[in-house]
This record gives sequence, structure tokens and C-alpha cells, in this order.
Amino acid sequence: MKLKQQISSVINNALLKSNIEVDNPIVINEATKVEFGDYQYNGVMGLAKKLRKNPREIAQEVVSNINLDGIISKVEVAGPGFINITLSDDILSNEISNILNNDRLGISKIDNPSTIVVDYSGPNMAKEMHVGHLRSTIIGDALVKLFRFLGNDVIAQNHIGDWGTQFGMLIAYLEDIGVEKSDRLKDLEEFYKNAKKRFDEDDSFKDRAREYVVKIQQGDKHCLELWKNFIDVSLAHCEDVYSLLNVSLTKDNVKPESFYNDDLANVISDLDKSGMLEVSNGAKCIFLDNSEIPVIVQKGDGGYLYATTDLSALRYRNRTLKANRVVYVVDARQSQHFKDIFNIAKKSGFVDSDVLLEHIAFGTMMNRDGKPFKTRDGGTIKLVDLLNESISKAKNAIKERDKYSDKELEEVSKVVGIGAVKYADLSINRESNYIFNLDKMISFEGNTSLYLQYAYARIESILRKSDKDIKIEKILIDDDITHRLVLMVLKFEDILNRASKDSTPHIISAYLYELAGLFMKFYEQNQILDNDSRLAISKITSETIKLGLDILGIKVLDRI
Ligand code: ARG
Repeated sequence: MKLKQQISSVINNALLKSNIEVDNPIVINEATKVEFGDYQYNGVMGLAKKLRKNPREIAQEVVSNINLDGIISKVEVAGPGFINITLSDDILSNEISNILNNDRLGISKIDNPSTIVVDYSGPNMAKEMHVGHLRSTIIGDALVKLFRFLGNDVIAQNHIGDWGTQFGMLIAYLEDIGVEKSDRLKDLEEFYKNAKKRFDEDDSFKDRAREYVVKIQQGDKHCLELWKNFIDVSLAHCEDVYSLLNVSLTKDNVKPESFYNDDLANVISDLDKSGMLEVSNGAKCIFLDNSEIPVIVQKGDGGYLYATTDLSALRYRNRTLKANRVVYVVDARQSQHFKDIFNIAKKSGFVDSDVLLEHIAFGTMMNRDGKPFKTRDGGTIKLVDLLNESISKAKNAIKERDKYSDKELEEVSKVVGIGAVKYADLSINRESNYIFNLDKMISFEGNTSLYLQYAYARIESILRKSDKDIKIEKILIDDDITHRLVLMVLKFEDILNRASKDSTPHIISAYLYELAGLFMKFYEQNQILDNDSRLAISKITSETIKLGLDILGIKVLDRI
């Protein structure tokens, strides 16, 4: 049984013995400070109000009835009526011994797995990925790995922007310059920039570009071929970036906007049947909750919008993919859009009422001046450039530390440089903006990936040195720091479940950082080599760090 459950049942027995009836389930919290013990029960305060008694007196009564020969070694009343609980070394020792050599570190799959669709990355085609795509891609991928590890059926969806006027512009522009097609994304980007300029300045170009859009829509063979080529070139580039980033998205996860095209007319007619549509200034609109600003689903000229496609996608995800939870990892600036389409999808019955629809919003990445990231001339910064800069900084930081062959150095800098960028993002509350500062990200100190990768490598080197199979029935806990370290290891399951419920990878990072810190203390204070218990604890700690980083999509190294 899980630790918290075991503590609840001890408290429950003590309440029964004290003749106090509780109607709510007993909730055990983590102690907020080491001095408070390991866990805390705060339920007495509520009870005291109901019973019109002094909470400290009730707490005292409960404490006097707690059985101390089992899992709890010490209880104390604190403050206005908190009960501070310290677990016995014996119970920790049993629990930790049970997870030695367990490949899931004793972490169960959840009882009621869901089918979760995670919509993330979603770059727009015909452009290189830029820094604006980074957050969605790494946060989304961490969530996919987390949900999956906990036993859910996870379907990753890359809702790429592969449809729209820009492709008409491109075709018209290529025609003008007499180029058939190009296999280089860099060219396409250049073409697109010029095409956009022409589009804004020249009305006849604009008309031609629009005609091409219609032609693509009507399935004109030549135009479709050109369009498909643009997408292939762009996607190949995205795949390179995903692989560099150690992100699991592949072609199989791509469900582009164009996939929903054939369904858009149905979306409109079904919305109409549900009585939600109104025509305003020629456009088909939905006015939600008496809002004055409508959600437009079809323009006066017949064109569909971003929202129309998303409504079709929502219906597909519920009806066809059978999702019970759909998670959109998209910039906070799209909050209103998601609020609206979730609302419409539920009201129109496109999505069943019990399906969880969540916008997992995130803030903006800023430069060191606290401004949104831009190149000196105001352009967007290419993701690949940013990642390469991080890799080269990582190389400088590590090359002095160990003797690496050239090949090793390449490999190690990649793991460190990419890890640093991902971890910095995943270690802050996703809703905050943050400042991108490579010097801070690639540091052996502080809450960084390098600190954790180093802690891992350090433990691995100890285990290599001891060079023996750890054969042990029961892991002993013989001092305070060992007690704290083991308790921390055992809390991992709770952390993962919380991170999964709230879609907050940063609590996993915070946990790993604390865990590594405790290990470092344990290591300073104890002789580890030749002590099987301590070696076993070290092994489980390093496995926990590895698993945690793995879920965050960050690689470890055996030596740094
Ligand atoms: N392509 C969109 C953008 O760059 C992101 C797509 C997000 N997913 C969605 N289903 N709307 O803003």
C-alpha cells in the first residue's frame, strides 16, 4: 500500500479510538519543512469547528491514540492543531527494499487509464521552425511521455498549418521567377518572404495567388503537386529538428489542417442544425453567452477559418480517436480561441459532455532584455540556430573536464546542450514568461539539467567503482539524511501523478533537483562504497533521476 494511504489508515484508527467521527476522507499532506517531520495531517481544525472544541486539544487526543509501533515513529501537535508525523525507518526500509531492481521503481500504472490526445508542436509549413515553436514542442512531448508512463493510451497529434493563402502566393511567385520547385526549405522561405511582399503591394499578384488557392482546393493536379512538395520539404526539416531535440513526433503523428477540409462543410451544416449559427455581415457566426464578438466559422466569401478546422478536429478526436481527454499545448495568446471552440464543441454535441478539453497554455520566451525573442533586424530566430548555439556553449563548458575523443565530445555536447534548453523550459511554471539565458542554463550549479546529469554520472561512477552485484534483502536506514533521501525517492509516484493531473512538468524538475541535492548530502556524510544498503539507495536514486529526465525527454550520460 502507498505510504500516504498507510498513514491515513493509522490516523483513522486513532480518530475512531478517540470517538471522533469524520465524514471526509483523510488527507495527508507533505510536511512543508524538515522540522515538521515527514507528513502533516491538518484535518483536525475543521473537525474542531464542527465539534466546537479547541483544535489543539482534539489533536492531542488523536496523537495519544496513535499506534507508534508500526509505520509511524513520532507524532507531535504543532501550531493551531496540526499533527506532524515522522515515519519509522523500518517502514521506509521495507518500501525502498521492495523497489530495488524493479524496472518501474514500484510506480503503478493508474487504475483508470484514459485515451489522451495531445495536440502539440503544430508548426506552420513553408517556414523554418523558429523559437516560437520550441515551448509547445518540448512541453507537449514531456506530457506525452508522462501520460504514457502512467499507463494511459496516448495519441500525439501534430496539427501542422499546411493550408491557406500562403501556398497560393508561393505558386504564383514561383511562376513569376520561372522556378518549378525547390527541395530546400531555405529557398522556400526566401520565396515566401518575397511573395508576401508582392502580395501586399500588387493587386494583380494578389488575385493570381487567390486563384491558385482555389485551384489547390479544387484539386488541380499540378497545383496540388507543387503544394505537396512544399509540405514535404517543410516536414523533412521539422523531422530533423524533432530528432535533434529528442522529441518523439514522427510523420505518423501529423494530422494536418488539410486533413479536415472535406469535413468543414458538414461542420457548418451541423452547427446550423443545432441552431447555433447566425449570419452577421454575410459571415456565419456563433455568438457565445451573449458575447458581442462572435466566433466566425465561415466568411462571407465561403472561406473557412482556423476555428472551423479546430471544431472538425475536436469532433474527430472524440468520435474517431475516442479520446476522453484532449490536451492542447499552445501559446497562452490563443486562450480565447480554445475557450470558444471548447464551448461550441460541447454545446453542439460535437464532443461528449464528459470529455476533458484542456488548453495547456504557456508564456513567452524572452531575451535578456525581457523582450520577445528577435534577431537584430527584427526577424524571428531560427530554432536550429538557437539549438546549435547551445550545443557549442555546452562543448566549451565540458571539454576541459574529461578526456573526450572528438566523437564523444560531439555526442556529449549535444546531450548537454539540448538538455539545457529543454530543462530550462520544463523547470519553470509553464504559464510564466521566461528569459532565455544560455549561460545560466548550461551551468553545473543551480536547478539545471547539467546539475542533474552530473549527479547521475557521479552516482554511476560510484556504482562502477564498487563493481559488485548488490545483494541485499533489506536496505538499512541508519541516519537522518538517509531517512530523508529514501522518503524523497518514495514520493516520486505522487509527483508524477500530480504533474499528470495538472499537466505541470516543472514539478518533476523541482523534485529531481531536490532529490539530487539530498543525494549529494548523503554522499558527503556517508561512506558508500562497501556498504550494500547505501549502494542500493544510490542505485535507486540514479534510476529515479534517469527515469525523471527520461520523462522530460532529457538524456543522461554515464560520465561527464
Ligand atoms: N499552427 C498553429 C500556430 O502556429 C498551432 C496549432 C495548434 N493546434 C490547434 N489544434 N489549433 O499557432
